[in-house]
Amino acid sequence: MGKSSSKKQASMIFVTKTPLESSQQTALRTHPISDTKVQNTTTVVYPQMYKGHFDKLILSNYDIQKRCKEMAIYIHNTYPHNEPLVLMCTLKGSAPFFSMLCNELSLVGHPYMIEFYRAQSYEGLSSSQHVKMDASQLPKSIQGRHLLIVEDIIDTGLTMQKLMEAVETKNPKSCKACSMLVKRLEQESGNTTNQVSFEQELIGFSIPDKFVVGFGLDYNQMYRDLRDIWILNETGIKYGGFEK
Ligand code: IMP
Repeated sequence: MGKSSSKKQASMIFVTKTPLESSQQTALRTHPISDTKVQNTTTVVYPQMYKGHFDKLILSNYDIQKRCKEMAIYIHNTYPHNEPLVLMCTLKGSAPFFSMLCNELSLVGHPYMIEFYRAQSYEGLSSSQHVKMDASQLPKSIQGRHLLIVEDIIDTGLTMQKLMEAVETKNPKSCKACSMLVKRLEQESGNTTNQVSFEQELIGFSIPDKFVVGFGLDYNQMYRDLRDIWILNETGIKYGGFEK
């Protein structure tokens, strides 16, 4: 036996597509929670200086990671395995979620490319109803590829709607939204839903209509550093508003 052939081959694992029942696929798509249900609070830590700034813990880092694993399986079972999926992170808020989702996708062995894009619609606590974005800065890799826009949170849906319209001009093979959170907005009828309708491909969690911070989500650029997601209270708003 030659010297080279006696060398041990590195073992590789190829993950193949696992067929899922359509009901299982649907179950993986969205995971609504109530305002009170936090699945694991044992590892919650935050900087001491933020003490008293939050009303309630809404999602722990553990909850988000668990959900990212499910979302990665859903993506792996939905998109082709012989071409990279373009994952476009909308800056800045989506960065921690994006990184966690990418890690889980790598673990299931799904091929992907990463891109970043900046879009801004919120000023302080509310939507400005005007989305700031520069379509000329959209990545070229979108063209002819399957695209998943990775967002932190969908509130009125305006930012995502504008983003979808902008990326369509770059002719992707397909374009879907993937958001860590979506807010349930109250309608006049008393029902809760999203205001703007578009095809929401993949949602991490549906949350109540409250202003939340942490895990990338900010209030005036603050609180992005939190590991978990919290409802901001009056003290936090005052502090984040720099009225110390
Ligand atoms: P929309 O255009 O109204 O859907 O707002 C989406 C954008 O507003 C997100 O990308 C966030 O940057 C921001 N946003 C909406 N709700 C919240 C929140 O509760 N906390 C922090 N940012 C938010």
